[in-house]
Amino acid sequence: MCGIFGCICSSAPRVIADGLKRLEYRGYDSVGIAVISGGRLLLEKDKGMIDPFVRRVDPSRISAEIGIGHTRWATHGAPCKENAHPHLDCTGTIAVAHNGVLENFLEIKEGLLKRGHRFASNTDTEVIPHLIEEGIRDGLSLKSATARAAKMIKGAMAIAVLSSALPDSIVCMKRESPLAIGIGKKGAYCASDVPALLPYTDMIMQLQDDQVAVISRGQVAVETIAGKPVKPRFIKIEWEAGVAEKGGYPHFMLKEMHEQPIAMRSTLKLPHGFLDRASRMMEGRVYLTGSGTSYHACLASSYAFSKMLCMDIRPVYSSEFQDLVCDLEGNTVIGVSQSGETADTLSALRYAKSRGAKVIGITNTLASSITSLSDTYICTQGGPEIGVAATKTFLTQLIALDQLMLRAGLNAGRLPEGVASGLLASLNGVPSLAEGVIRRSEGIRPIAQKYSSRRSAYFLARGINVATAMEGALKLKELSYMHAEGYPAGESKHGPISLVEGDFLCVFVAPRDSSRGRVIGNMMEMKARGARIFAVVTEGDDELKSIADDTFEVPPVPEFLNPVVCTIPLQAFAYYVAVLRGLDPDKPRNLAKSVTVL
Ligand code: F6R
Repeated sequence: MCGIFGCICSSAPRVIADGLKRLEYRGYDSVGIAVISGGRLLLEKDKGMIDPFVRRVDPSRISAEIGIGHTRWATHGAPCKENAHPHLDCTGTIAVAHNGVLENFLEIKEGLLKRGHRFASNTDTEVIPHLIEEGIRDGLSLKSATARAAKMIKGAMAIAVLSSALPDSIVCMKRESPLAIGIGKKGAYCASDVPALLPYTDMIMQLQDDQVAVISRGQVAVETIAGKPVKPRFIKIEWEAGVAEKGGYPHFMLKEMHEQPIAMRSTLKLPHGFLDRASRMMEGRVYLTGSGTSYHACLASSYAFSKMLCMDIRPVYSSEFQDLVCDLEGNTVIGVSQSGETADTLSALRYAKSRGAKVIGITNTLASSITSLSDTYICTQGGPEIGVAATKTFLTQLIALDQLMLRAGLNAGRLPEGVASGLLASLNGVPSLAEGVIRRSEGIRPIAQKYSSRRSAYFLARGINVATAMEGALKLKELSYMHAEGYPAGESKHGPISLVEGDFLCVFVAPRDSSRGRVIGNMMEMKARGARIFAVVTEGDDELKSIADDTFEVPPVPEFLNPVVCTIPLQAFAYYVAVLRGLDPDKPRNLAKSVTVL
């Protein structure tokens, strides 16, 4: 978690504040900036979110052309002013902003305390500026002192280091947590995520693990922490900065839901070479792994592979992967992650690789840790997603996985050409159908109103839409803080039904598919115990409309595409319930967009 932004350009404090605002989704419990002004290091930090901080500090009044900033999601130490980044050394001339978690900081801190260093916070981060201070005292350059500190530290760290003794450069170092560097016409920048850099430059490089970079105006010098020079490799990022703004919608989430058809169309244009390479790599046993919403995409895809190709692919939560999967030599693991930086997923993929598996990455972030780690990758084309809740990235993951499934079916001779081209035509048509669903999704608002004061809800389905139901429940609970549980409808009678009494909300995902008859049975069981039923049904399904209390109709599609059209009303339901409860759907409490801790 946490966002780092650094720059060397005119009006640096204002640019840093702007950069931090774009990174706010990575954490927002405290904020700080350090700049060099008049040859001295100046630090401002506080508890709380960026807007009040900017109003109070007014960065535009500070004259500086270099600085670093940080927006925090607390790991070590409570969210308070003292624990806010950047952190300083004893001399107050070195400042460090950090994203990650240090594993051996306690023993390092003990040594530093014995050697007379004074600490001002409870964070793990604070050991870094003190270690760098010792390096400088030993005659090292800022770069070498940073590299030496990095060698002593175990754990995840992306850092930006500023020193008043080196007033025209920022030193960066990365291990596990992400750090991107951009060089533009007006300055040089570093940030935890690419969208924050886009207003300033589209030429971006991702620092790789255990590399240290010295950024100065117009250039960057990179080497490994062992001192081996590395040629910086910049790539041009095609996203427009404006795409990452709210574009007239009250929330990023709503805007991003409306972008889903475009994002899916772009993902349908994936170069065939990528899909072909990935599908040919799928050898031996195949596992799909991801976290949260990305796991739900894995789950839906495993049903699609089974139903369409009769191929068993096992979906595994990334956080459980190492405890569950042992047979990896010669097998394949597909890692799905919007950010490409989720620590659980990265760790599962590293483990799989170390045990001899081939790794295919499916991510929305081209220059991410997962793409670097994968043997081959597919990049979904969702564009930047700022709302904390995954929306368009989920649908684009489904589209990418469906394309991979069709390609694998053809390559393995499991799908006749004629059948595959019919399914591909349906896949190509789904963005237009989704557009229609999104246009009508405001119709969910009165339904959301009716149920917005409930304490709890079940989300139920069978077959591939178990993934849809679980995704609907996740969206509702994370945005509205209403307890919601998604599970296979057939499981109710094995326990959960005991909670059902008058007015209990059951949301059913019940399009016309092979499980519909059985789903109706489960709906009747809930209804008989007084549950209120809100069902997502296929257009014209009068039978279900007469059973359920409320329905939302989606167009008929082949079974494997139902999660695409059925997820949209559930996203809208969660969005409206959150708004009606007076909550900000873009910034749910306790969460961050990119979960870079295990
Ligand atoms: C839910 C949500 C999270 C993410 C999860 C994985 O709306 O956004 O559950 O899906 O943290 O993130 P990525 O896909 O970046 O690996």
